[in-house]
Amino acid sequence: MRRVHSPVPAKGGRVPVDYLQRLVEARREMMDEVWPAGRNSHAPWDGTHYSLKGHARPVSVSRTEAYFLSNLVILGRPDTVFEIGTGFGYSAAWLGMGLATAGHGRLITLDNYSEGSLGVDGLIAAEKFLGTIGVDEFVDLAVGSSPVDVPKVLGERSVDIAFIDANHHGEHPVGDYESVRPLMCRSGAIVFHDVDDSRYTVSKATKRAADDGWRLAALQTSCFLTVAYVDPRWTELIAEAFDAARRGEFSMVKDADGARS
Ligand SMILES: C[S@@+](CC[C@H](N)C(=O)[O-])C[C@H]1O[C@@H](n2cnc3c(N)ncnc32)[C@H](O)[C@@H]1O
Repeated sequence: MRRVHSPVPAKGGRVPVDYLQRLVEARREMMDEVWPAGRNSHAPWDGTHYSLKGHARPVSVSRTEAYFLSNLVILGRPDTVFEIGTGFGYSAAWLGMGLATAGHGRLITLDNYSEGSLGVDGLIAAEKFLGTIGVDEFVDLAVGSSPVDVPKVLGERSVDIAFIDANHHGEHPVGDYESVRPLMCRSGAIVFHDVDDSRYTVSKATKRAADDGWRLAALQTSCFLTVAYVDPRWTELIAEAFDAARRGEFSMVKDADGARS
């Protein structure tokens, strides 16, 4: 098992450093850093979140969370990734870089553009950001509200990796989980953002998942990511994805025979 600093040449695929360079340049132009590294004493190595210039909210995932999402996709080789909470496309870009690196799969990301003052600027920014990086061919931007629009947006697809990062209050997190659960592959994983009882009610959803038989892996990240899964293969993949993410590295692409390239 080998890991290297980015760039990581993906066998038969793209070279992530190209995506990363374009992401960093587009991020500098379009976004402001709002929460620095060390903001959360539970994960002092993490932080560095972004908002779209001119908009205080919404705020993106952190640096470690961004790498982790890419790495989970690279290692998990999903056919379908589903995100609730596009925002301005930041986490979608990292999920998309994972798909582009693996050379496989598709992300469907849903938002109703209700948070903060973002409105349609979020969708316009996401289109521009994903297009500039060059991962737009792997991503479908869907406009609608969870949980009600989730079945319509996914259609016949089964989801291999879901990332839930939308309304974190009241019964919404449970509603989002309940909408995604019947559409998940049995071998899939659900990533929850902001499982933070001091601010949000997302733990109601993770507790419901545990009651339904999902294992939970709580990660020490800036915004308390938790991954729910049933298939035991995720235990090692989550640990590997997180390990690399903490160091700011991409995981290696896994071939069909299990070798890393
Ligand atoms: C924290 S932001 C997402 C940030 C994004 N995941 C990232 O890291 O770049 C949450 C997003 O969820 C969206 N949202 C809130 N409630 C929603 C709902 N019921 N359906 C769809 N999107 C929703 C908001 O408009 C906002 O853009």
